[in-house]
Amino acid sequence: MKLGFYDSGLGGLSILKSFLDKYRTQYEYFYYGDSARAPYGDKTPEELISYMKEIFQIMHEKEVDLVISACNTSSALLDQVDLEDYFFQVISLTEIVRDYFENSVEAAVLSDFNLPVGLLATQGSINTARYKEWGVNVQPIACTKLVPLMEAGDMEAAKIEWQNYLQMLDTNVEYVVVGCTHYSFLIDEKQLSKYKFIDPANLATAYFEKSIYSDSLISYKQSKDKKKLDLEIEFSKCDDEYFKLAEHLLSFV
Ligand code: DGL
Repeated sequence: MKLGFYDSGLGGLSILKSFLDKYRTQYEYFYYGDSARAPYGDKTPEELISYMKEIFQIMHEKEVDLVISACNTSSALLDQVDLEDYFFQVISLTEIVRDYFENSVEAAVLSDFNLPVGLLATQGSINTARYKEWGVNVQPIACTKLVPLMEAGDMEAAKIEWQNYLQMLDTNVEYVVVGCTHYSFLIDEKQLSKYKFIDPANLATAYFEKSIYSDSLISYKQSKDKKKLDLEIEFSKCDDEYFKLAEHLLSFV
């Protein structure tokens, strides 16, 4: 089975990495980062829908069996894209996070005690207001500075800004939704001991397994047992430095 992942650029690599860490050679992988048009967070819904259509066409040409939409901002608009023309299913981060809030014990506690939940995400994601479906008391913060810094390769500046955004949360916030796949790469040990991060990068493989085993719509095709990693990465704009950063984020170097 060939899995296709996409994002505006580097962020979706956090989702891809979680699959590589868990399944490595069990599947084939194709990753598409639309770096020429990043960030997606400041684009209109109409623009994002047209980008997704283009990307699904690429996925179709690459003959992927299942797409994992590794971009929160565009995932939230997926129900406005007609997927009937494609042979593949799409799993989106929106449904992964919603599944967490519908089915996890932690989320039930958050809801029952009306505990505040921080949401750090792009402006585009926050505008879609999908977090209102979670049934918990959400404090959203739009982190507009982070993706442009990361896409320009300035990880250190992004980490400082990420910490600044976390500090904007009320002091009683313990749970924080990592609402953009880029941000997973910014979390440090100290923050991990202070907050409980609800990060799709930690939820995606379990949801994927639940889907392929229980959802009759997705036909599960185990790839032949391979020894070598079968991974293709493509960016709509890329130089050597950018590609090296991508490899570094995947922990290949
Ligand atoms: N990484 C994407 C997300 O999860 C897109 C961020 C952006 O390009 O602004 O929302």
